[in-house]
Amino acid sequence: MTRHFLNLSDAGGDSIAAMINDAIDRKDARKSWPKGKADADAPLADHVLAMIFEKSSTRTRVSFDIAIRQLGGTSIVMDSGSMQLGRGETVADTAKVLSRMCDAIMIRTDDHAKIEELAANASVPVINGLTDLSHPCQIVADLLTLIEHDKALPGLELAWLGDGNNVLNSIVEAAGLMKFNVRIGCPEGYDPDTSFITAAKAAGANVTLYRDALEAAAGADVIVADTWVSMGQAHADAKMEAMMPFQVNDVIMDQAKSDAVFLHCLPAHRGEEVMPSVIDGPQSLVWDEAENRIHAQKSVLRWAFGQI
Ligand code: CP
Ligand code: NVA
Repeated sequence: MTRHFLNLSDAGGDSIAAMINDAIDRKDARKSWPKGKADADAPLADHVLAMIFEKSSTRTRVSFDIAIRQLGGTSIVMDSGSMQLGRGETVADTAKVLSRMCDAIMIRTDDHAKIEELAANASVPVINGLTDLSHPCQIVADLLTLIEHDKALPGLELAWLGDGNNVLNSIVEAAGLMKFNVRIGCPEGYDPDTSFITAAKAAGANVTLYRDALEAAAGADVIVADTWVSMGQAHADAKMEAMMPFQVNDVIMDQAKSDAVFLHCLPAHRGEEVMPSVIDGPQSLVWDEAENRIHAQKSVLRWAFGQI
């Protein structure tokens, strides 16, 4: 059966753990190699990855492009505006055509229903490069980063401060699969998707909503922030005002454990969701996290082709 990666649960906890181990091994094996040189075993040699972007991207675009090259394959990167998709060709027809020409499709889209339709009509793996609902590839990189920095996942206390968005939904999903706990500090009206919370709780994770940022951060092993205005959302003064008490600053970091780390998927807005002293400070892992998009995306690709 074709393996699509629309959300983390498509792979499940065991496969995500295996992906992270694979990423650690492959990263280690090519230390100081040129970034564009293929891995010695080139496990996806001659494979072509089609990438469709309906929204802006730096990390997802570059990391998947480098990832497929390092696995021995090649990519075609398309902005939907320059495709017939952007002129009204259907998602279903696009899926059927790309399935005849390419070996896998990665898409970043504004509407999760579109990726579901793409997957339903594709005969090759479809990978979620971010939708309005979730960002699973980012979270594989985040978990890899935490493990690399000796943060064991079972029982980990992760505090999220800010908007209940797509990145948080995937973190909550990961909590259920990997058995860690999420403390969500979020103003009323900006909660994450309830279905992810229900599933994570059913799987045994503690997922707690706080309306007070200090309470959410108390005793955390990791603090995570993201933009207050995701792509496709309108900038609203009322939202920015509601978010301000949830800014990650030194006072918030002081509430967490003394060895707590800071993650942010980037791009960041210094002075909004995070202060420079935190994101550019000693507890921040954001550059490892960004680099790990390559290593994590290689594992996602290998999983999609049944190699993990
Ligand atoms: N974190 C992330 O997905 O970055 P891009 O939007 O640059 O791809
Ligand atoms: N929540 C952000 C993540 C960007 C990588 C957005 O959707 O714009």
